[in-house]
Amino acid sequence: MLASLTLEEKASLLSGLDRWRTKPVERAGVPSVWLSDGPHGVRRETEPDVSLPATAFPTSSALGATWDPELVEQVAAAIGREAAAQGVHVMLGPGINIKRTPLCGRNFEYLAEDPVLSGVLGAAYVRGMQSTGVGATVKHLAANNQENGRHWMSSEVDERTLREVYLAAFERVVTTAAPRLVMSSYNRVNGVHSSQNPWLLTHVLRDEWGFQGAVVSDWISVHDRVAALRAGLDLEMPGVDGVTDAEVVVAVRAGELDEAIVDRAALRLLALVDAVLPAVQGQVLDDSVLADHRALARRAAADATVLLANDGVLPLDPAAAQRIALIGRFADEPRIQGRGSACVNPRGQSSIREALAAELGDLVTYLPGYPAHDDDPARIDEHLVDAAVGAVRGSDAAIVVVGLPDHVESEGYDRTDLELPAAQQVLLEVLAATGTPLVVVLVSGSAVRLGEWHGAASAVVQAWLAGQEAGPALADVLLGRADPGGRLGETFPLRLEDTPAHLSYPGERGRARYAEGVFVGHRWYDARRMEVRHPFGHGLSYTTFDYTALEVGAMDPESGDVPVALTVTNTGGRPGSDVVQVYVEPAAAPVARPPRELKAFRKVRLEAGESRRVELTLSHRDFAWYDVDSGSWARSAGIARVVVGRSSRDLRLGVDVEVVLPPGAAAPATDAELEPRALAWSAGESERRRVR
Ligand code: BGC
Repeated sequence: MLASLTLEEKASLLSGLDRWRTKPVERAGVPSVWLSDGPHGVRRETEPDVSLPATAFPTSSALGATWDPELVEQVAAAIGREAAAQGVHVMLGPGINIKRTPLCGRNFEYLAEDPVLSGVLGAAYVRGMQSTGVGATVKHLAANNQENGRHWMSSEVDERTLREVYLAAFERVVTTAAPRLVMSSYNRVNGVHSSQNPWLLTHVLRDEWGFQGAVVSDWISVHDRVAALRAGLDLEMPGVDGVTDAEVVVAVRAGELDEAIVDRAALRLLALVDAVLPAVQGQVLDDSVLADHRALARRAAADATVLLANDGVLPLDPAAAQRIALIGRFADEPRIQGRGSACVNPRGQSSIREALAAELGDLVTYLPGYPAHDDDPARIDEHLVDAAVGAVRGSDAAIVVVGLPDHVESEGYDRTDLELPAAQQVLLEVLAATGTPLVVVLVSGSAVRLGEWHGAASAVVQAWLAGQEAGPALADVLLGRADPGGRLGETFPLRLEDTPAHLSYPGERGRARYAEGVFVGHRWYDARRMEVRHPFGHGLSYTTFDYTALEVGAMDPESGDVPVALTVTNTGGRPGSDVVQVYVEPAAAPVARPPRELKAFRKVRLEAGESRRVELTLSHRDFAWYDVDSGSWARSAGIARVVVGRSSRDLRLGVDVEVVLPPGAAAPATDAELEPRALAWSAGESERRRVR
């Protein structure tokens, strides 16, 4: 096919027909394919900002909190089926950027603060999506961790940090799940736009990771089409009326661009079209499939719900005839997703108010408690507060639903602080003083600061932005029909000043310096032994679990593999789910390493009293650090420790393991060995200075 195309036709394949379609080459029988957002449901536009209805699944931060690759795979497959039925060949998701700061406006679109959790779940998403034939697009490569200044900021990240944190999730997804597309990010990485960064798009992505698919630009992020093509960017989206296609043709004719580079990209586009075309053929969704998707969205939302604190007030007993005050506007006008390109037109939605009323009838009294979403969030309406206090005083328990207003979490800009709106904070303080047991439900796509009221609440539930079934799912959890299956994929800090990027975010003069290096997320709080409000990995169940009989085998010198096994027992009286988290405390190395890092995890569901042996394998990379001097992953010989726990701060068992080098492998260069190089460099530098 490629050989039969003219240069103009090949160039035309390399930019969009419009906002969503690739260009066809009708003469040669090459059709166009349709790309849609993503990632939490299909946003198949029919006209600008109008899209077909689709099931709105829980957003990525909620999916991240499930710690459940099988579930994420099922959700992505359901989205893929809906995409195919709407004629969509490629979905623009998953988003797997690391949550470097809780302020990032797009955190609801990202899975976690941790590269292993993001990578494992991102790969599951891609597998599920592509099982339907629809192509997945992993985005945004790379270091797109804030929205402020995203079109011009340069993320200044040292290579070790890139490799260990910001590229690691992409590497896992690309090498284990083979997404059809990778999307480059808006920002620059170390000074070079991602869309035209040869180190990123060719050296790392293709030469090292073996990526075979196509690279698509983020929408309107190509600054120099020819440079981008040379760097490895195949498809520019959306189209700009063929203007840049002509630039490509001119560059080839002028001898400035090798036609082989155009051929290479055109071939990738032809391969993409070929691979995804069959997905949409004959796809229809009947009502039973849609009902299944709804049920899946509900199960996923319950499985994402994190029970942060509980003195036993939850689950509520529907038979106890308790009078419940349901306070908070979000209980009636649910927030199910964030703003921007990920916004889905939901097939329907029902609120926690409706869900509880259906179950408990007149026992539930609803009052808004704080002003509507788009009112000034700082405005405190005393009438609303007084009415809420009255209702709470007259009730056996209160459920208070609070969270970030809709306009606060969005693509395109960041949050300015970690605070809940002042009106909600005042409401919580006043209600906490009533003495009625309070169940506080938080609706947000990323961490918020939990104020003084936190200590007085009987239970605190992080419900995320959990999609169209958020209301019924929350009722399932509060009434104990579902175990709160979620665990935090991001730390809830005590205050903004404690967060890893605080002193270098959002950057200055066009540069965001990632000064905290590899100490991101739990790595930061653990290295600094800081108190946090709720640690990474935390989440309670309605039952209890015991971990016993941890066995850690010897490291295989060749592969670096280490087998790990332990027994998990549900010691409580109800069925429930738990997430076994395996952290490695590394052996001493010539570089600063976090005290422990998440390396593996497994979600288990156990009946009351049931035990299960959980087996996992750690590998070379789980003990290694990235050695920039040799350009490779190095493991340092010595004693490391494998610890298992229920969160990064609730470590239950640990066993030492001897890290050994592969036979014949040289140990990483020591500082003393590196010194001559450093001296030579500084001698050169003095010479350069002298000459200057
Ligand atoms: C976003 C992408 C999205 C694209 C298409 C961009 O603004 O950054 O994530 O896929 O728009 O809507």
